[in-house]
Amino acid sequence: MLIKIESLTKRFGTATAVDAAEIRVEKPAMIGIIGRSGAGKSTLLRMINRLTPATSGRILVDGTDVLTLKGAALRRWRRDCAMIFQQFNLVPRLDVVTNVMLGRLNGHSALASAFNVFSEADVRQALAHLDRLGIAEHALKRAEALSGGQQQRVAIARALMQDPKFVLADEPIASLDPLNAQVVMDALRRIHVEQGLSVICNLHTLDTARRYCDRVIGMRAGRIVFDGPAELLTEAMAREIYGAGAEFSEATTSTSLATPFPSEAGRRAVPVTG
Ligand SMILES: Nc1ncnc2c1ncn2[C@@H]1O[C@H](COP(=O)(O)OP(=O)(O)OP(=O)(O)O)[C@@H](O)[C@H]1O
Ligand SMILES: [Mg+2]
Repeated sequence: MLIKIESLTKRFGTATAVDAAEIRVEKPAMIGIIGRSGAGKSTLLRMINRLTPATSGRILVDGTDVLTLKGAALRRWRRDCAMIFQQFNLVPRLDVVTNVMLGRLNGHSALASAFNVFSEADVRQALAHLDRLGIAEHALKRAEALSGGQQQRVAIARALMQDPKFVLADEPIASLDPLNAQVVMDALRRIHVEQGLSVICNLHTLDTARRYCDRVIGMRAGRIVFDGPAELLTEAMAREIYGAGAEFSEATTSTSLATPFPSEAGRRAVPVTG
């Protein structure tokens, strides 16, 4: 068992943002969390990596409830579950390779010392990550000079520098055009398939979840209303997740990601092992 989430709940005042969520991840997985705006997707991810304090519940990893961790143990957990955000959260004026190496700092402050703390091995590893993500040629540019899709790949490289066990991505493609969205989702999928990491990814759209994720978790009003393989996510179930009426059609939950791809893109294009 990699992670076992029990009755995880978050209340903001009287409102319940996440209501007794139960999730088990038994082996490395690529999981998409879907649901309409306000369903609790971000709150769920943020509780896992302790950005948002949970109201109640447990998150068991290796027999320890990560909600109880403090100090160095908490920092270790945060390193183990790297976070990727919609807005990339890079340091715009720093060059790409330094941004990636910031993943090594593991939450330590001292940006100023960043320039001295990296070893040659760190630089080599950062470049290797960038290379695998297809953006090594931009290593010395300022982050702000890159396109959104390139910046998100820098953020993925930074996450990988943490040597995490989980990658938590909160709407990683929501700010990207369809082509860049595909490149970034392909990269996340590859991380899962090739490196065996678990990727848990909030996604606005059903088609992206179907295409890239083996397992889909559907949230509605703070509750998990579906948890299963993408194939079992019927239109009726999608209707329930999105709370849509009779006028519901998959198009309303779809980006234009469904444009024709050179290969039959996404999860089918990536060899899936195991
Ligand atoms: N800091 C906060 N204070 C009060 N309420 C909050 C706070 N953060 C989130 N909420 C509420 O909790 C609920 C879940 O929010 P959350 O951001 O997790 O939804 P989401 O599924 O990520 O939505 P979106 O798709 O728009 O990102 C919403 O009703 C939201 O208004
Ligand atoms: Mg959100």
